[in-house]
Amino acid sequence: MKYPFDKIIDRSGTHSVKWDMRSEVFGSDKVLPFWVADMEFLSPPAVQRALQQRIKHNCFGYTLMPESYWQSFASWAEKRHLWKVERESLQFSPGVIPALDFAIQSITKPGDGVIIQPPVYHPFYNVVKRNRRKLLLNPLRLDEGQYHMDFEGLENYLKAGAKAIILCNPHNPVGRVYTKQELETLGEYCLHYGAKIVSDEIHWDIVYSEGVHVPVSALDKDLADITITATSPGKTFNLQGFNTAFVVIPNKKLRQGFERARHRNGIFMNNVLGITASEAAYTEGEDWLDELLPYLESNYRKLQNFIRMEMPGVELIQPEGTYVAWLDFRMVPVEDIHRFMIEKAGVGMNNGLEFGEEGRGFLRFNFAAPWPMIEKALRQMAAALKSI
Ligand SMILES: Cc1ncc(COP(=O)(O)O)c(C=O)c1O
Repeated sequence: MKYPFDKIIDRSGTHSVKWDMRSEVFGSDKVLPFWVADMEFLSPPAVQRALQQRIKHNCFGYTLMPESYWQSFASWAEKRHLWKVERESLQFSPGVIPALDFAIQSITKPGDGVIIQPPVYHPFYNVVKRNRRKLLLNPLRLDEGQYHMDFEGLENYLKAGAKAIILCNPHNPVGRVYTKQELETLGEYCLHYGAKIVSDEIHWDIVYSEGVHVPVSALDKDLADITITATSPGKTFNLQGFNTAFVVIPNKKLRQGFERARHRNGIFMNNVLGITASEAAYTEGEDWLDELLPYLESNYRKLQNFIRMEMPGVELIQPEGTYVAWLDFRMVPVEDIHRFMIEKAGVGMNNGLEFGEEGRGFLRFNFAAPWPMIEKALRQMAAALKSI
């Protein structure tokens, strides 16, 4: 292995949300943290080199995004996702969640219905609510161990006048990577009823053998015309702290609306180190990612085996993408499994309820960590379950 993914890094004391907020979130700074979706791995060495080079200059005034920055993203989209994005369709955003805000503000009005599909990344709820749009919940259906979009529910909302859907693909926390066919069906409904698609594809590069990521906007021109796609190098290369995202909006009117909304929120400039880190990652980070993906896949397979052997009654929903595992504890006779794992196993995960009522009895476990760290946590969890 060229990159040391098995090496445990001490992140405590670095103002890491995952490590340094443990007391506040779990009531103890001793729990092993498997919650926030960032990785326990060093970023690609090329990113560090580029940052060191930039930092040497030690002058950090307002900074433009050079053509090479945009090209690095466009080349990545084409190479990794067979998606040819035009330079003029690109916008920046200080993060994917702000991009969802700007998108919703620009394509809908207060009071308009916006669909989300729980269990889903919790900030989606807040994006709709803080912009005073009407939250329309169309829960995914769990059939035979896998989640699927409920197209009947979707059509009902669209027929009743919903103006937009926020799609999460790959879907956090359930790990689905939607197929071309599923996305085409979604697209047909949205086109038929005149709704827009806001597609959060931040996890697009983290896809395993079972899945192929298809950007919904890449499917055809009509769909590209109604879609705003937001993604970033954050999850792919562990660069979330830079808050630098890319937004693809082929439709000129939608793009201008998005830009106006971003300006109304006072955002005009990107950050100097985020620009450097993103470009370095997209131009020189590919071999690192190609080594990371099998490591992550091996983590979840070992996790799955461990659960089968040592945690009877617990199910892992097979992730096709993302580095979060959605664990089903509904058969375990414990009232509050989240608290139980904190107190009895010393392991801090995300409570399934954070993602919606459908997440009751589930926990989200972040497996982007060195296997020895995961194994330790799993042993503690198995021992706690055996003590029931
Ligand atoms: C689906 C999804 N969207 C957005 C984000 C956060 O994006 P950002 O930090 O760029 O706002 C996350 C982080 O976990 C996520 O899982």
